[in-house]
Order: sequence, then C-alpha cells, then structure tokens
Amino acid sequence: MDKILVTGGTGYIGSHTIVDLVEKGYDVVSVDNGINSDIGTLDAIRAITGKDITHYKGDLCDLALCRQIFEEHKDIKGIIHFAALKAVGESVEKPLWYFRNNIDSLLNLLECCQESSVKAFVFSSSCTVYGDVTHSPVSEETPMQDAASPYGRTKQIGEYIIRDTIKASSETKAILLRYFNPCGAHPSGLMGESPKNVAQNLVPVITETAIGKRDKMTVFGTDYPTRDGSCVRDYVHVCDIADAHTLAIKYVLEGRQSLPVDIFNLGIGNGLTVLEVIKAFEQVSGQKLNYELGQRRAGDIGAIYSDTAKTKQVLGWELRYGVNEIMQSAGEWEKNRSK
Ligand code: NAD
Ligand code: WQD
Repeated sequence: MDKILVTGGTGYIGSHTIVDLVEKGYDVVSVDNGINSDIGTLDAIRAITGKDITHYKGDLCDLALCRQIFEEHKDIKGIIHFAALKAVGESVEKPLWYFRNNIDSLLNLLECCQESSVKAFVFSSSCTVYGDVTHSPVSEETPMQDAASPYGRTKQIGEYIIRDTIKASSETKAILLRYFNPCGAHPSGLMGESPKNVAQNLVPVITETAIGKRDKMTVFGTDYPTRDGSCVRDYVHVCDIADAHTLAIKYVLEGRQSLPVDIFNLGIGNGLTVLEVIKAFEQVSGQKLNYELGQRRAGDIGAIYSDTAKTKQVLGWELRYGVNEIMQSAGEWEKNRSK
C-alpha cells in the first residue's frame, strides 16, 4: 500500500489521521518536533491500530532532517502536512516565530517533494483564510479577505506558496483542506486534544470546566445577531476530519484530480451557537456547566459556517458524527487524560 508522510503526526488532528490511514491500509511515516504534542500519542496509535509507526522526532525547519526522511523512505507517495503552530493569540505576540516555523517547514517539504517522486500534497488550511466574512455558508469560491492574525496569514501565504510551487511541478498535485472547528476525540477514549498551552478553544474549555480544572467558563458575547446572541461556528468531529484526509490522498493518488491544486472545506455545513454547544454538553453528560455570560472576545466574528457540498460530492465525504458524539468523546477524553 502507498506510503504517506504525516507531519505533525503526534498532534491532535495528525494522530487521528494516522489511525484512519493505518486502518485503511496505508503505510505511514510520521514526523513531529513535539512542540505541542506528546510522544506518548504513538502508544495510543499502537493500542488502537495494533501497529508501530515509523516516527521521526525532529523539526521540519531543518532541511537536512527533511531530506533524511525522504532519503530513508524513497517510496513516499503522499504528504499530509499538519505540522504548524496554531495559537491565534500567540501569533499576534510572536509573529516572526509563526512565520518562520509555519513557512520554513512548508518550503522545506515542498523542496523535498520536488526532489522526490511525491504525487500528492495535502495541506492543513483553515476557515481563518476567509477572514471577516459577512455571509455564511462559506464556499471554496468565497474570496479570501485580510487574515485576522499572523497565524491566519501563514495559512493564506502557505496556500499561495503551494499554488505557485505545484504550478511549476509535473509530478505533484495538491489539495488545500480548509477546516472549520475541529473538535471531539477518538471513540476509544485513548486519543484527543492535549494542548500544551492553556486551552482557548470552546470544546476543551467546556470539558476542562466540567472536570473542575477551571472554576467556570465565560460565553464570549451575547449580543451578536444570531439565534440566541452568542457566536455561531461549524463544529466538526476530528475523526470525520481524519477520514477526509484519507479520501483526499486517495483522490489524488488514484489520478482523479484534474486540477494541479484543489480546495475543499471541512465542516458539517451547519452552525451552532456557543450556548447550543454548552447545552449539548450538558445533555450528553447530564452535568450542569458553571458558565457566565460575558463580553465579546476581540477578533471574533458573529457567525461562520461552511458549505461542504463540493467536498461531499467530489471526495465522497460522509459525516459520521454530530455534536452529541463530539461532546461525549471530548468529555471522555478529558477524564482519561486527567487521570
Ligand atoms: P497540533 O498542535 O495538535 O498539531 C500540530 C503538530 O505539529 C504538533 O504536534 C507540533 O508539535 C507539530 N509541529 C509544529 N511545528 C513543527 C515543526 N516545525 N516541525 C515538526 N513538528 C512541528 O494542532 P492540530 O490541531 O492537530 O492542527 C493541525 C493542523 O491543522 C495545523 O496546521 C493547524 O494550523 C491546522 N488547523 C487546526 C485547526 C484546529 O482547530 N485544531 C483548525 C484549522 C486548521
Ligand atoms: C469558538 C466560539 C468563541 C472559548 C479558532 C481559530 C481558527 C481555527 C479554529 C485554526 C467563539 C467562543 C470560546 C470560551 C467562548 N483554528 N468561546 N468561550 O475562534 O471559531 O476558531 O479555531 O485554524 O483559526 O480562530 O474557535 O473554539 O476559540 O471559539 O464563548 O472560553 O466559542 O467566542 O465564538 P474559533 P474557538
């Protein structure tokens, strides 16, 4: 079966995607410098799949390391490039670090693509590239607007770099996957999100509040023009996101992609408000959350959710999970990782 290099392999989405690839028969090589993940994730991958993954602990900004991986695995057919720094607020404080890390690593990998026989390059992009949208659902045709943070800018620049590089290549085709709000955890309870920084995303904030890591949480803004005044987002289960990556790799490797670069949104195509997400957690857990209604968070937009018709039609993506499974699995993972 084809060999795939997964960068950011011990990270949140990378690890779930490795499980999905292995379960579907792919041979996986992983690389991660561990800046935002734990090497122990490999044990979880082994426990779930029964397989040991070849893993490199190292930094993709090091071109020599990248070349070494390709030298030792000349048969890599596809790359799924997750590795990046991703904290929006931190990127505002340390923009150069974000540019250096997220762009240098991408350039090195693309350089290795050109030097080898990689056929498929799949890039982790984000709905953040759409900027401050005023209308949802957002389709892949929606033009990009100014990114709200240096992190978002690294994704926009990354997309342009990939386009220009792939245009000049006859070997490799690329897919840009724009994720909306990935959340939830593996149904086994063995794997999930383990941020090294203080959690800032809604779902981990909810699960941390539920188990008492936080006294209470705040709903950021209740005066948006939405159903109940809180923000609307498109929450999509990480295992569905993982599956979409496998479909994307397969699509390119089977020679079905005619364009040099194509773009697909990954979301459920529907929005939930913050209060609805909290309610879903309370329902599946049977536990009351301690939350307060607070001020808007700087930089947030009122509503954004995806149009995923193209992803479903072209890649054949079928969603398996909804908000209840997201909240149930995230809660389970929070308990397990805090033991
Ligand atoms: P994550 O932090 O859990 O995983 C990223 C992994 O990359 C980490 O394990 C980190 O240690 C590693 N890494 C970072 N820089 C590296 C480098 N220079 N060399 C080697 N390893 C490096 O994040 P995630 O949530 O799994 O996100 C994966 C990708 O998806 C990222 O590119 C992120 O920007 C993108 N994305 C994530 C979300 C989300 O909400 N989680 C949404 C949209 C896009
Ligand atoms: C969701 C909603 C908050 C915490 C971020 C990145 C984006 C992408 C996905 C990477 C918002 C509200 C949150 C809390 C709250 N990542 N909230 N109380 O901001 O939609 O997107 O992750 O590419 O680029 O910006 O996700 O989970 O932070 O927030 O009320 O304690 O939950 O205001 O409306 P966001 P989030």
